[in-house]
Amino acid sequence: MENLGLIPGFWKGRKVLLTGHTGFKGSWMSLWLSRLGAEVTGYALPPETSPNMFGLVEIEKDLNSVIGDIRDYSSIESAVLHSQPEIIIHMAAQPLVRRSYREPLETLDTNIMGTANLLQAARGAKGLRAVLVVTSDKCYDNKEREQGYREDEPMGGHDPYSVSKGCTELVTAAFRDSFFPPSRFEEHGVVIASARAGNVFGGGDWSEDRLIPDIVRAIEKKESVEIRHPEAVRPWQFVLEPLYGYLLLAQAMVKRGPSFGEGWNFGPDREDEVAVRTVLSELKGIFGSEFNWKSDEKETPHEAGVLRLNTTKSRNQLEWSPRWNLKKGLEETARWYKAVLANPHAARSLSLELLEKYVIDGNRGENDYSRPLAVGV
Ligand SMILES: NC(=O)c1ccc[n+]([C@@H]2O[C@H](COP(=O)([O-])OP(=O)(O)OC[C@H]3O[C@@H](n4cnc5c(N)ncnc54)[C@H](O)[C@@H]3O)[C@@H](O)[C@H]2O)c1
Repeated sequence: MENLGLIPGFWKGRKVLLTGHTGFKGSWMSLWLSRLGAEVTGYALPPETSPNMFGLVEIEKDLNSVIGDIRDYSSIESAVLHSQPEIIIHMAAQPLVRRSYREPLETLDTNIMGTANLLQAARGAKGLRAVLVVTSDKCYDNKEREQGYREDEPMGGHDPYSVSKGCTELVTAAFRDSFFPPSRFEEHGVVIASARAGNVFGGGDWSEDRLIPDIVRAIEKKESVEIRHPEAVRPWQFVLEPLYGYLLLAQAMVKRGPSFGEGWNFGPDREDEVAVRTVLSELKGIFGSEFNWKSDEKETPHEAGVLRLNTTKSRNQLEWSPRWNLKKGLEETARWYKAVLANPHAARSLSLELLEKYVIDGNRGENDYSRPLAVGV
């Protein structure tokens, strides 16, 4: 099969609208896209946490940043019309399970209606070629089983966040089938796909109720961190792994057309789908005596016990695969936080170096993957 590694020059000068650029994954994506030469417009709310990756890494240097609320149709419509994107990558969302219990309506509104607003606005975008909607591994009807979910399995969800991502998938499919059907691709020229990644970690995340940010905050305060579900199994992924998948997928949508307009899973190798407890013991090995944890025995809202993804499709059809294993990703993440906490002014150069290191390792075939990776970094 044709090699779908990042095509030299593909992103150069390409107009991309990236929603959620002020967030954790969005900041890394902005950095990567700008290194590849894309002309990026970002659309999101202001960063919520302090500190935050967007500010520390000075992401405003990499794109045209538009601050707006995706729940406001006229605001997102105006961003779409002004930026004239060829590719839209939609990451803006309320992404936290526990917050979704506290703020169910806001979560549903942002994630479901926000996506519908964007897709409706996209109908008026001239020159649009591809829309990639980022959902989550939590979009599946989780039966707590050991096998990973395949892309064609039913959507579902227990908590408001998971349901919002299942519904986002349905809304995406409805807009594709109703307004951009693959059977009429010759008329409209637009491919719409969705991407479902696992539990993402990496430097630059300060969100509430996420494992690594909670640990970093506890280390700073010299406290021990309370862990809610140490036995929960998750598909852990270093942040650049799914982003690499999104780049390959967007490229394939533009270059290879409507057969790529579907749902795609991006997850780690099976051996890196492990319990929280295993991640904690890796981190203990990295941080040493600075890091201590104990089980949080308080009654907490339901969170899935086991969640795994089947990634055969993206490995076979996009020739995507993780470049770093869990251990390497955690080491690089810990190194990033330690260095940035010691010298916040170095955050941009450290992040660019990390991106370059990931690409170089990928090209070297680290993890026994021999296919060349990207250019442009
Ligand atoms: N981090 C993970 O582990 C993970 C796993 C699977 C899927 N995802 C998905 O990836 C995407 C990015 O996640 P993240 O971890 O970077 O989250 P984040 O909270 O760091 O970033 C969320 C982004 O969405 C923007 N946003 C939120 N509400 C908005 C609104 N009403 N209008 C405009 N912008 C709004 C924020 O401003 C921010 O830029 C989300 O769609 C999330 O559901 C994340």
